Amino acid sequence: MGSELFELTGKVALITGATQGIGLAIARGLGQAGARVVINARNAEKLERAVATLAREGLTVSGCRFDLVNGAEVRERVAALEQEVGRIDILVNNAGIQRRSPLEQFDEKVWREVLDINLTGLFLVTQQVVQGMIARKSGKIINICSLMCEASRPTVGAYTAAKGGVKQLTKSMAVEWAKHNIQSNGIGPGYILTEMNRPLIDDQKFDAWVRARTPAGRWADPTELVGTAVFLASRASDFVNGQIIYVDGGILAAL
Ligand SMILES: NC(=O)c1ccc[n+]([C@@H]2O[C@H](COP(=O)([O-])OP(=O)(O)OC[C@H]3O[C@@H](n4cnc5c(N)ncnc54)[C@H](O)[C@@H]3O)[C@@H](O)[C@H]2O)c1
Repeated sequence: MGSELFELTGKVALITGATQGIGLAIARGLGQAGARVVINARNAEKLERAVATLAREGLTVSGCRFDLVNGAEVRERVAALEQEVGRIDILVNNAGIQRRSPLEQFDEKVWREVLDINLTGLFLVTQQVVQGMIARKSGKIINICSLMCEASRPTVGAYTAAKGGVKQLTKSMAVEWAKHNIQSNGIGPGYILTEMNRPLIDDQKFDAWVRARTPAGRWADPTELVGTAVFLASRASDFVNGQIIYVDGGILAAL
């Protein structure tokens, strides 16, 4: 018993939207726990740079370029990746976007974009990757959720709808694929210091609100999600299924 429970040596992990922020931190963390990591992005140049950074750190890493809303591209690239690396043991569905607008003014195109990337894209990647997991009777799926799976704030209605969908989809994945020894769980980050939150971090009023509202009294660094990701990717979580673990400094526990 002990650290071997969390050992990922010999495992292959695909992390979507992983050239920066939470995705990059999780990719690095899974790599440091022993996994061979494959990072995904839409932008080839950014992808190349992130792969080079992790390789310089001594990790076994490669890139897989696709836009996760393009179903045909996802199917083709994931199939090619499996040819290249043999299999995908761990899938971290991290890619996501935020677009803010009052609900009554929410632009239809932008609404669809948020739902498409955060929910439908996540489904398309998972549907392709799970085929191999079902065949091998083994797999770990980690969906990056949000506090917005449980609550909302003004202007983030589309994101809240999408992340609420991801929470429920995580349960459907668990219910349908548990019989194939596949565990599907979510991580719900609190307020994390990443580019997605740049407008909020730079807004003194919002920054003060986050510090006051979070029992821990601060924002978190993306690296603080790594422990939970390693747990959900490893043998240590083999009977944990359909759960969302909130890594939020206690925010959801407080009124
Ligand atoms: N930062 C937070 O406080 C926070 C809190 C809760 C949940 N999250 C979630 O964490 C995840 C990562 O967010 P982050 O804060 O690191 O933001 P980020 O903007 O730094 O990273 C998101 C990444 O997803 C990529 N992406 C977007 N659309 C894509 C597509 N169609 N195909 C491929 N890649 C695409 C982006 O290019 C970017 O690299 C998101 O799902 C986000 O909703 C973040």
